[in-house]
Amino acid sequence: MSILLKNGRVVTADSDAVCDILIEGETIVSIGRNLSAEGAEVIDCTGKLVMPGGIDPHVHLEMPFMGTFSSDTYETGTRAALHGGTTTVIDFILQKQGNSLRSAFEEWSGRATGNAVGDYSFHMAVTDFNPSTKEEIKDMIAEGITSFKTFMAYKGALMIDDAQMVGLMQEVKKHGGLVTAHATNGDMIDTLIAQHRAQGKLTPLYHYLSQPEVTEAEASGRFADIANYTGVNAYIVHLTCEGALNQVRRATERNQRVLVETCIQYLVLDASLYEDEANGAKWVMSPPLREKKDQATLWAGINQGLVNVVGTDHCPFMWEQKLMGKDDFSKIPNGHPAIEHRMELLFSEGVSTGKITPQKFVEVTSTNPAKIFGMFPRKGTISIGADADLVIFDPQKKHAISASTHHMNCDYSAYEGWELTGKIETVLLRGQVAVDAGETKVSKGYGKFVKRGKTNI
Ligand code: URP
Ligand code: ZN
Ligand code: ZN
Ligand code: ZN
Repeated sequence: MSILLKNGRVVTADSDAVCDILIEGETIVSIGRNLSAEGAEVIDCTGKLVMPGGIDPHVHLEMPFMGTFSSDTYETGTRAALHGGTTTVIDFILQKQGNSLRSAFEEWSGRATGNAVGDYSFHMAVTDFNPSTKEEIKDMIAEGITSFKTFMAYKGALMIDDAQMVGLMQEVKKHGGLVTAHATNGDMIDTLIAQHRAQGKLTPLYHYLSQPEVTEAEASGRFADIANYTGVNAYIVHLTCEGALNQVRRATERNQRVLVETCIQYLVLDASLYEDEANGAKWVMSPPLREKKDQATLWAGINQGLVNVVGTDHCPFMWEQKLMGKDDFSKIPNGHPAIEHRMELLFSEGVSTGKITPQKFVEVTSTNPAKIFGMFPRKGTISIGADADLVIFDPQKKHAISASTHHMNCDYSAYEGWELTGKIETVLLRGQVAVDAGETKVSKGYGKFVKRGKTNI
C-alpha cells in the first residue's frame, strides 16, 4: 500500500518547501519534486501545509487523581488527539507510594494495550524513591521508559522531598535518563490552601491565590539547582510564568541547560477566568492560569529557544466531577481538556497572528518532544525512513471549538466558541489515514506503544 502526497508545503523544524512525499507501508520512502508511483493513492495537498504529526508529551488518561479518574480513556483520548493532529502522546504512569515501579507500569500497560487508537508512550512518575525503586530505574529505561517524573507538590499522594530528588537524579544520571518535574512548592501551597479554607475563602479564585508565582519560581530554581549539582538532564513540565522562566534563564548563566515545556492554556488563557464563580472550576488546574505578562514571557521564551515544548497537560473531568469541589476549591479535580486543540490553537494564536513561524510551530509541537524524549528521527520530522505520521493542514480555514463537536470525553469545552484560523484536514499515522474530514479511519488497538531512547537534543 503506497500513498503519494502531492504539492504540499512541507514544513519541518528546519525546512519549508513545496514538494511531494511518498509513503510505503508505515514509512516515508521518498521526498522530492514531481514524484510518481504506480498504483499509489494520491492525495492532493496543493495550498495545504504538510507537517509532522504532533507529539503531546504531557497527558493524563484514565488517571486516578483526587478521588476520581480523568475522564478520557486511552481510546477516547488518543482518538481525540488524532482529530487534533497529535499522533503520539506520552502519558504519566503514577507509582503508588509503597509499591514498585513495575506494578504501576503493568497497570498502565493494561489500560492502554489494545485500546489506544493513536501511538503512545509513558513517563514514570516516581512518587516513592527508596532502595528498592532505585534498583528499578535501569529496568524502566530498558523497557523504553527513559523519563522520570517528579512532583514537588501534592504532598501525601505524589510529592517527593529534596532528599529523594537528589537520590533519584543521581540514579537516573547514572543510567542516562531524564528527570522531569512538576515544579511548585507543595508545602507553601498546602499552607496557603489551609489559610484560605480557614477564612472561608472557598471559591475557584482561591485555587489561583493559593499558588502564587513565587511557589513555582522557587521550586523551579530549586529543581534546576539540584539538577545542576547532579548533572542530570532536566525538564520542567507545564511552566507557566515569568518568575519560573527567569530561574531557567539564571541556570543558563552557569551554562546549564534546563529543558522547558509550557502548555497551550498558559499561552492563551489568563487568571481573570477564575473571577467567574459559577464556571471557574473549568480552569482549575495546577499550576493555575497566570497573567497577561506571563503569556508575553512564554511567547518570547518560545522564540528565544528557552521554552522548548508546548504540550497540554490534558487532564479532563466531567462537569459532575468538577462539582465535587462546588463548596471548596481544594476538592475540584485539577485539570482541563485540551488534547484535541493544542495544534489548532497554537497555530491560530501563534502562527496566524505572526507570533511564531510555521517552523517554530513544528519544532515545539513535534520535533523537540521527539528529540527530548528519545523518539527522533523515527517521529518528530519528515524524513526518509521516518514513520509516516503526517498532518495535512488548511492554514486559511476558519472554524469554531465546541463541546458539541469535540471528540474528548468531556461534557464542556474550556475554549467554547473560540474561532480559529487553520484546520486539521487529514492525519496519517504510520502510513494509514487515521482521520480525514472529521472522520476517524482507524480503530481502537491501532495505536502502538513507542519504546523510547535517550534524550538527544
Ligand atoms: O491540574 C493538573 N495539572 N492536573 C494534572 C496533574 C498535574 O499536576 O499535571
Ligand atoms: Zn542503578
Ligand atoms: Zn503537574
Ligand atoms: Zn500533568
